[in-house]
Amino acid sequence: MDAVDGALVLVGFMGAGKTSGVRSLAAQLDCQPLDSDHELERELGESVESFFDREGEVAFREREEAAVLELLDREDSAVIALGGGALESERVREALRRHVVVHLEVDPEDAWRRASGKGRPLARDPGRFRELYEQRHPLYDSIADAVLPPSDRGGPLRALPALAALRDAPAGTRMVWAHTRSRDYPVFFGRGLIASGFLFPSEGRRFTVTDETVAGIHGAGDAAIKPGETAKNLVSAEWVLRKMAEAGMGHDDVVIAMGGGVVGDLGGFCAAVYQRGIRHVQVPTTLVAQVDSAYGGKTGVDLPEGKNYVGSYHQPSAVLVDPSALETLPREELAAGYAEVVKTALIAGGPLWARVRDGRDPDDEIILGCLRTKLAVVAEDERDSGRRQVLNLGHTVAHAIEAATGFARYRHGEAVGIGLLAALRLSGRDAIRKEVAGLFAERGLPLSFGGASPAEVVELVGRDKKRRGGDVPFVLVQAPGEVTYGHQVDPADLLAAVEEVHAG
Ligand SMILES: NC(=O)c1ccc[n+]([C@@H]2O[C@H](COP(=O)([O-])OP(=O)(O)OC[C@H]3O[C@@H](n4cnc5c(N)ncnc54)[C@H](O)[C@@H]3O)[C@@H](O)[C@H]2O)c1
Repeated sequence: MDAVDGALVLVGFMGAGKTSGVRSLAAQLDCQPLDSDHELERELGESVESFFDREGEVAFREREEAAVLELLDREDSAVIALGGGALESERVREALRRHVVVHLEVDPEDAWRRASGKGRPLARDPGRFRELYEQRHPLYDSIADAVLPPSDRGGPLRALPALAALRDAPAGTRMVWAHTRSRDYPVFFGRGLIASGFLFPSEGRRFTVTDETVAGIHGAGDAAIKPGETAKNLVSAEWVLRKMAEAGMGHDDVVIAMGGGVVGDLGGFCAAVYQRGIRHVQVPTTLVAQVDSAYGGKTGVDLPEGKNYVGSYHQPSAVLVDPSALETLPREELAAGYAEVVKTALIAGGPLWARVRDGRDPDDEIILGCLRTKLAVVAEDERDSGRRQVLNLGHTVAHAIEAATGFARYRHGEAVGIGLLAALRLSGRDAIRKEVAGLFAERGLPLSFGGASPAEVVELVGRDKKRRGGDVPFVLVQAPGEVTYGHQVDPADLLAAVEEVHAG
């Protein structure tokens, strides 16, 4: 295993697992694990706790800064764990630019459980501890080249090949590690990724599935389907699969699905079923795909009887997100993606919702916020048996509108926008509904549908594939950040909500 350029520096809150992380990475890289707290204690000649208690926090931070700067300058340091507060120093943050900084995330409750009761000066009062967590979390994120979400202790080691690959990516590329029960994978996020030719995993032959529009912009690929939802079917899938067979693709090879959600779903599906499953990489080029569809492993195609009726869960081996690809995306497609952005921000609440409700166009921070929200939900529930259902917010009515209008009248995101307004009505959240409708109107998104009657849409809702035991569960919004699933709604309320978003 190659080392990375500079040192791998693990940062994160107390209890994030930095010490065990550096140990496992150092063992793999055959180097010495360094821990700033241990180095500091050696220098102080006493424990961090006793120095801190006697001399106070200001004196401690001064000594810590000096020790960390020295550590970051050492040539022999390949993996370093930094004390949780070291990043509060600007000089330390500056020195970290030469290294690959990895933020090990930890849930605040787990952090408290692991750190309290051990004499740590800042882990004695739960209120102060939580405050510190809220303050430092964004600081770690702001400096991190890579983020590893809370998972088991083996996370840093599994992520090592992807961390090492960061050196081949364009400057400024960040990596977010995705964790699911069936597979972990890196999401690389950087401007210029596509043009740079960066690819992960790098071994194996590649077979690129794309559509004709994307092929015209980024290069032909090996199989380019017609653009749009109507090509997301078994006929296209068979055509792609046979081309893969003709090209002699085998188990060591990789399908690259480069395009919007249609190509992502179809390319991922072909990878899932070809020779019972080979690896694939998602390269999303629409906003819908960059904030939503490229992650989480749902692949599939439509039948005339229903959207996504044939499919499989098949997690990608990596996702490469290049936000500069959106520069060629038509305005209407950006607007369609915006509906998914608003949906995701409502699920996330907090800083992401604050940024989105401001009316900003989706920037890198918003796209990253959305993808991290989706990854966090899928990490909890890969197969829609629980929490993942919240991602269907607005989708039950949206899918019915798409089916009722032959998958041709509305873009998926446009239908999601209308479905979201219906879901907010069903949630009884009129103030949020008004705010969301305002955001949609500014981007020219439709606020109502035509081409089918409310009764037809309600009938199709009843056939939704998420139906369990005869009932269709709905996702409702209590407040931004508080979205819950599994609600039964009264048929009369459903009809009223659908009538409200009907143009007729
Ligand atoms: N798997 C999932 O979890 C998931 C989640 C959400 C949506 N989806 C699926 O995603 C699909 C919708 O995705 P979509 O909105 O990306 O549609 P799409 O893939 O049809 O792309 C929209 C249009 O944009 C064009 N395009 C793509 N990239 C471009 C670029 N960079 N510049 C210019 N044009 C470009 C495409 O050729 C197409 O005409 C639906 O089928 C939906 O079911 C899947």
